[in-house]
Amino acid sequence: AKDPVRVLVTGAAGQIGYALVPMIARGVMLGADQPVILHMLDIPPAAEALSGVKMELVDAAFPLLKGVVATTDVVEACKGVNIAVMVGGFPRKEGMERKDVMSKNVSIYKSQASALEAHAAANCKVLVVANPANTNALILKEFAPSIPEKNITCLTRLDHNRALGQVSERLSVQISDVKNVIIWGNHSSTQYPDVTHATVKTSAGEKTVRELVADDAWLNGEFISTVQQRGAAIIKARKFSSALSAASSACDHIRDWVVGTPEGTWVSMGVYSDGSYDVPAGLIYSFPVTCKNGEWSIVQGLSIDDFSRNKLNKTAEELSEEKALAYSCLA
Ligand code: NAI
Repeated sequence: AKDPVRVLVTGAAGQIGYALVPMIARGVMLGADQPVILHMLDIPPAAEALSGVKMELVDAAFPLLKGVVATTDVVEACKGVNIAVMVGGFPRKEGMERKDVMSKNVSIYKSQASALEAHAAANCKVLVVANPANTNALILKEFAPSIPEKNITCLTRLDHNRALGQVSERLSVQISDVKNVIIWGNHSSTQYPDVTHATVKTSAGEKTVRELVADDAWLNGEFISTVQQRGAAIIKARKFSSALSAASSACDHIRDWVVGTPEGTWVSMGVYSDGSYDVPAGLIYSFPVTCKNGEWSIVQGLSIDDFSRNKLNKTAEELSEEKALAYSCLA
């Protein structure tokens, strides 16, 4: 039998946490033969709710779940973890300035970076979900210098999956037959959902999404804005932000990273830019990646037309501004 893997979920008493921990305990993230020990962190005002989540995990009698640590102590939470899913953060409240929200999250991610660096297992893989996800991940990277930068990522897989969903609905095809959309840039409304290289498996062989949709106005307009604004649409409909889809996509992100992407398929991940596609180095930016042997690599050599170039630049500019704002909060 395999040794259990320790998975940390911060913000575990929140909405996404509540959807995510049972998925992890059922093997959705790491596989049906991989035992897990869940580490759940939240803050003292949520401690009682967190203890309730722990009770439910016990009650659900998950065969793969070999232990649960539920705590408000960040050191205890980080001890020996192999995977860290950072969902906890400070939400933007009405009337708050961007800078105030950034400042709260910078201080959270700075201190949690230090705790992970000091106490997590060597080679711990980190996925930041909490917003501003890319910049929180960047702060985590800066303050955990001994964690390899390739181990620190942020979630744009939900946006990627949303793009697959829109294409599959528009063409009335199975979602599993659509692949290789790309989310470039920030997990925000400046992200660029790109179908230039996306394909669909049909009974007549593989076709490009562009030839099948045959409506560039839709692909360059409504498709992009629907994916960009999908989070807001969910809030409007549900009165709460996306939770089950965020949790499921977080599982997809980690599973593909650990197990590998299928041959010929890429996925979107927010990773530390090395300057690929002329994206400024030193930002956490969403790229198309393939994964093998537990490591991602950016897909190289894709053609970028002028329309796309503009959009890649625009979201990079926003991330550079966020980075500057984050640093101004540190000063
Ligand atoms: P929520 O408010 O229901 O839960 C957040 C939890 O984090 C709360 O239980 C809170 O007590 C906890 N928390 C706050 N500060 C903490 C700290 N310092 N350490 C540990 N825990 C802390 O929010 P929800 O809906 O679960 O969303 C969580 C985050 O994920 C938000 O920042 C949201 O914007 C983001 N998000 C990101 C998505 C993505 O695709 N990257 C998609 C959807 C949401």
